[in-house]
Amino acid sequence: MIYMKNVIRLASLLLLISITLTGCYYDKENELYPSPKTVCDTTHVTYSKSIVPIMVANCNVCHSTALQQGYIITDTYNYLSGLASPDGPLYNGINWVGGVSKMPKGGAKLSDCDVAKINIWIRAGAPNN
Ligand code: HEC
Repeated sequence: MIYMKNVIRLASLLLLISITLTGCYYDKENELYPSPKTVCDTTHVTYSKSIVPIMVANCNVCHSTALQQGYIITDTYNYLSGLASPDGPLYNGINWVGGVSKMPKGGAKLSDCDVAKINIWIRAGAPNN
C-alpha cells in the first residue's frame, strides 16, 4: 500500500509540474505574426507591382529616359528587361558581383528583400506583368 501511495504522489507531482510549465508558456503575437513591414513577400513578384517601385525609389533618379546616366535606362520595361538576363548588368549591378559598378551608384546596397525580388524577376525571364 505504501508503494502505491508513493506512485500516486509521484504521478500527481509530475502532473502538477507539467501543468505549471505548459501553463506559463504563452505565444507572443508579434513573434507569431511579425508586422507586415518586416516580412519580405517574394511570392507574387511582378514587374509593375514589385520592380517598378524599386526602380522609382532607387534608380530612375539617374537612369530615367531623360538622364540615361551611363547610357542606362531603368524607367521603361523594354530597356530594363534588356539588362535583365541572369548574370547580366542588372543582376551584377544590384548584387554587387561580377566586377561592374555597384548600384545604386554611391549609395547603400538595396535591401535584401528588394534584391531578392529583382533576382526572382530576372530568373523568371523578366516578364512584363
Ligand atoms: C547616383 C546615380 C545612380 C544611381 C542612383 C544608380 N545608378 Fe546605375 N549607373 C550610374 C552611372 C553613372 C553608371 C555608369 C557606370 C559608372 O559610372 O559607374 C551606372 C551604370 C549602371 C549599370 C551598368 C553597369 C555596367 O557596368 O554594365 C546598370 C545595370 C545600372 N547602373 C543599374 C542601376 C540600378 C538597377 C540602380 C538602382 C538600384 C542604379 N543603377 C542606380 C549612376 C547611378
